[in-house]
Amino acid sequence: MSDLLKKVIDAVVDCREILLSPFSVETKDSVSNLVTSADKAVEQRLKTELLKILPDACFLGEEGSRTEEKTFRFVVDPIDGTANFVRNLNCSAISVGLLKDGVGILGVVYNPFTNELYYAEKGNGAFLNDKPIKVSKRDFSHGLYYTALCIYKKGLAENCINILREVYQQCDDFRREGAAALEICRLASGKAELYFEIRIFPWDCCAAEIILTEAGGVFKHLYTDNCDIAAPFPIIAANNDENLKKLEKIVRKEVPKLPEDYN
Ligand code: IPD
Ligand code: CA
Ligand code: CA
Repeated sequence: MSDLLKKVIDAVVDCREILLSPFSVETKDSVSNLVTSADKAVEQRLKTELLKILPDACFLGEEGSRTEEKTFRFVVDPIDGTANFVRNLNCSAISVGLLKDGVGILGVVYNPFTNELYYAEKGNGAFLNDKPIKVSKRDFSHGLYYTALCIYKKGLAENCINILREVYQQCDDFRREGAAALEICRLASGKAELYFEIRIFPWDCCAAEIILTEAGGVFKHLYTDNCDIAAPFPIIAANNDENLKKLEKIVRKEVPKLPEDYN
């Protein structure tokens, strides 16, 4: 493990105490979109600590932190699965990705409630609590499908439900845990095979994408119409190319292009 990765992991794990302490809750732009004092505190702490580790990087965080563009960029979700966090479901993670010229080079996803620590560095494989992880070899018919119905834009739910209906007929079963980063890491550790989310933000999946691809999986942005670094996009992911292609065919039938009111 590189010195950089070690330091990033330490900075992430040091935030554990913030998630285990009392917090207050506010709503953002809809009743389902919550932010807590812990989200803000973790983002502030990581901004300070990560930029100390790599002063040559800029920072993009879900709760509004954005610094001037540089070659390296940290992309941070201080708490992925905030609704789970508020409900004490113990299924939330701190997610830190690092890009160089827009390409993922390092990812850390940490659930402080279960002490699951996923990490990867480009070219060095993926790990869960220091043990190497690999995607499964299951085919589509034995696949477990993770998806979401677009909680923050419910107008897109119908498309997601139609896709779920078709995938479900052809796969084994589906799940929804409410923390995209952890769900994508389930594919990386061979526990699930298929993933689709119609509208996801860079901080939800930046770290998990690197972890999944380093574990041998595949991750695809369906459309690249949105150019802003903080804009949402639809993604699919799978344990292998064959399953990804099958999933993509179903998804593209239902979502041939981004809806007009997508953003
Ligand atoms: C959300 C969770 C959820 C996913 C949403 C994300 P948040 O992140 O990952 O599972 O379906 O797209 O926005 O708001 O809890 O950080
Ligand atoms: Ca998130
Ligand atoms: Ca979040």
